[in-house]
Amino acid sequence: MTTKTLLILAGDGIGPEVMTQVKRVIEWFGAKRGLDFAVEEGLVGGCSYDAHGTPLTDATMARAMEVDAVLLGAVGGPKWDSLPFAVKPERGLLRLRKDMQLFANLRPAFVFDALAEASSLKTELVRGLDIMILRELTGGVDFGEPRGIETLANGERRGVNTQVYTTHEIIRIAEVAFELAQKRGSHVHSVEKANVMESGVLWREEVQKLRDARYTDVTLEHMYADNCAMQLVRNPKQFDVIVTDNLFGDILSDCAAMLTGSLGMLPSASLGASDSSGRRKALYEPVHGSAPDIAGRDIANPLACLLSFAMMLRYSFDLGEDADLLESAIKAVLDDGKRTADIMQPGLTAVSTTGMGSEVIAALDRQTRA
Ligand code: IPM
Ligand code: MG
Repeated sequence: MTTKTLLILAGDGIGPEVMTQVKRVIEWFGAKRGLDFAVEEGLVGGCSYDAHGTPLTDATMARAMEVDAVLLGAVGGPKWDSLPFAVKPERGLLRLRKDMQLFANLRPAFVFDALAEASSLKTELVRGLDIMILRELTGGVDFGEPRGIETLANGERRGVNTQVYTTHEIIRIAEVAFELAQKRGSHVHSVEKANVMESGVLWREEVQKLRDARYTDVTLEHMYADNCAMQLVRNPKQFDVIVTDNLFGDILSDCAAMLTGSLGMLPSASLGASDSSGRRKALYEPVHGSAPDIAGRDIANPLACLLSFAMMLRYSFDLGEDADLLESAIKAVLDDGKRTADIMQPGLTAVSTTGMGSEVIAALDRQTRA
C-alpha cells in the first residue's frame, strides 16, 4: 500500500485534545490494518497567530495543497476575539477552504440509536435520522465582493457584504448533491431565498435545469431557507440531501447537528474538484468549534473528530471497509453506555476525552479479533 500523506492542524481550544485521540486511532490503523500514513502537523488559527503573527503561514498553506488530505480540529477563542479581522483565527480556516477550492462541504447529521434520547427533540422525531447537508463553501456572502466597512461623508459607518453566485458555482455543487442522493434516498431539497434574493432565483433555476437534464431519477424539491429551518425541527426525517449556499448551510447545519444530540458528534468533509488523476483536495473537520469554555479539561467529545477521520478514509482513500470499522466501533462504545459529558445521561458511564479514545481503540480491537 502506498504511503498517504496527511497534514494535521489541531488548532485551538479543544482541537488539540480531540486530535490526540485521532492520532492514537491512526496509529491503531497503521499497526493493525496496515494503513501507511505519513502524518505531519502544523498550526492554524489563534495558535498560529501567537507563533507567527498570522492564522495560517504560507508554508503551512503550501503543505495543505500538497498532501493527500488535511484533518483540522477547531479554530478560535476569546483570547483572539479582539484581533483585527484579517488575522482572526477564522481567516486561517477560510483561506484553506478558498485556496484549496473546497467548494463542497458535506455535513452528515445522523442519529446513533443509543443517542436518540439525547436529542432536544422528541425521540420518535429523530430516531433513525440520516440526512446530508451539502453546503457550498467557496462562494456566496462569505467571499463575495465588494465587502468591507467604510465611513460615509456624513460620518455614518456602512458595512457591506455581497451574496453572489455564478452558474458554474451552482451547477458544480448541485452535481455533488444529485450524486450523493443517488447513493442514498434519491431525494434532494434545494434551499435558498428565491422570494427575496436574485441569487436565489438563479440558484433555483440552475438546480432545476440540471436535474431535468441529467438526474431525472432524483426527486428535487425547492424550499425557502427559513421554512427549511422550521421543517428541520418539525419533521427532520422528510429530508435526505439538502443542498444550499454558504451562509444558509452554515446556519442549517448547526441546527441539523443539534437534532442528533450534540454538536460533539458530527463530522464534515470539504472537497474540491477531481483532478485528472481522480484525486481531489480535501479537508476534514468536526462541525463543533473550539469550545474554549471546556478546553484543556479532558472532557471534550472526540467522536466528531474521529468520525471526520472515518470520512477521510472513505472519501479520500476509498477505504470504505476501514471507515465502516471505525464507525461501528464508535457505535459499539455508545451502545455500551460510555458517554462524554456532552451526551451523558443518567445511569450511563461517564468517560473523559482520553477515556473515550481508549474505549474506541478497545472496540476496534474486539471487532478485529472477532
Ligand atoms: C463552520 C464555522 C465557520 C464558518 C467559522 C469558524 C468560520 O462556523 O465551519 O460552520 O462560518 O464556516
Ligand atoms: Mg458554522
